[in-house]
Amino acid sequence: MKNLLVVSALVLSTAAIASPKTQWLTVDNEVLARVQSKMPNKSAQALFSNSHASVVELNQAQIEQLSEVIHHELHRCGGFITHETYAEAELALTAQGDSQFAQKALFSDYDINQKQIVVPMVASVQEASIREMIIKLSDFKTRHYKTDTGVKSSEFIRDTWAALAKNRSDVKVELVSHKGWPQASIVMTIQGSEKSDEIIILGGHADSIAGMFGGQGRAPGADDNASGIATITEVIRILMEQDFKPRRTIQFMGYAAEEAGLLGSKDIAAGYKARAQKVIGVVQFDMTLFKGTADKDIVFMSDFTNAAQNEFLGKLIDEYVKVPWGYSKCGYGCSDHASWTANGYPASIPFESTMGDINGKIHTDKDTLQNAGGDASHAAKFAKLGVAFMVEMAN
Ligand code: BES
Ligand code: ZN
Repeated sequence: MKNLLVVSALVLSTAAIASPKTQWLTVDNEVLARVQSKMPNKSAQALFSNSHASVVELNQAQIEQLSEVIHHELHRCGGFITHETYAEAELALTAQGDSQFAQKALFSDYDINQKQIVVPMVASVQEASIREMIIKLSDFKTRHYKTDTGVKSSEFIRDTWAALAKNRSDVKVELVSHKGWPQASIVMTIQGSEKSDEIIILGGHADSIAGMFGGQGRAPGADDNASGIATITEVIRILMEQDFKPRRTIQFMGYAAEEAGLLGSKDIAAGYKARAQKVIGVVQFDMTLFKGTADKDIVFMSDFTNAAQNEFLGKLIDEYVKVPWGYSKCGYGCSDHASWTANGYPASIPFESTMGDINGKIHTDKDTLQNAGGDASHAAKFAKLGVAFMVEMAN
């Protein structure tokens, strides 16, 4: 054992003297496959791979060669990221690395420069429209993901969103079905006019649950989460009313089966990652109805979320909503934002209260509009934030 240690130490130090300092790169697999044969001395061999990218070890001169080959062969820049250590490079290609990246990386410059569009939109948020949609959704006996009314409630959301978009040929509203349960998710897409490959998402879960045997009883889910879907519906209503044409692509989502373990959003977010789609911002509205905390109107869960995007949303509140906001923690992946984070995308959840002040009626037949204050004035603040986020991020 002792001898072995000495030998490896010798090899290490010899390598350090003999070859110039190397770096570890994570390289897109398609890029690597195209350029590998053009690299001298069989450099750029994969040391570790996942389905999208590989780790290769190169010195500075080889990195420059790689850049040149990529330029020459693919007529593009980049295609790789450099790392100081092998461990860091490998981590970047694992699920844990995806989640860390999603929470820490910068995905946008987070500029506020759309005031002329956002200010009038924010002024047109209607509490009554949100309230009406909450009532319609909580009138379904249950929106449980395995029930017939759960299926019908998703179709109702699809129809409501499609009706708001009826004059727009650049907007589509679809049901996305899942393997393993009958309730579909709802996805509305406004195609971006300039950077259509870059996507901004506002979502919330469409299902509800109550009691131990979720599917059987009455589950109005007014706060959890008719309120989130109704808040998103108000954002859609305003963007359609103003005939807003985004530069980036915008999507609104109602996820199926969140209450059963984030099932719908996991399925959807994994698909975006598998297709290497560029999602540059995700916001989750899950519970916007009940004002549980006296001195804070909007509370960002700081765990399983992107720190820079959370701060940006706080700035948007200061600029456009002008209500007090703060931070709290779920302590676990408590809603669909966590599915996006796990797949490497930046996500936030602006929530109705701190974790200590939550609505105690959720997941029971008492989760009603009346029991959460009787009107949607708290949710209206979230609709304003939603409009501001979508317009500022999309343009
Ligand atoms: N809306 C809740 C999450 C929530 C509750 C967030 C209270 C903050 C405060 C969500 O619908 C839910 O119930 N999530 C589950 C977890 C999920 C993985 C099944 C939960 O919290 O038990
Ligand atoms: Zn919920």
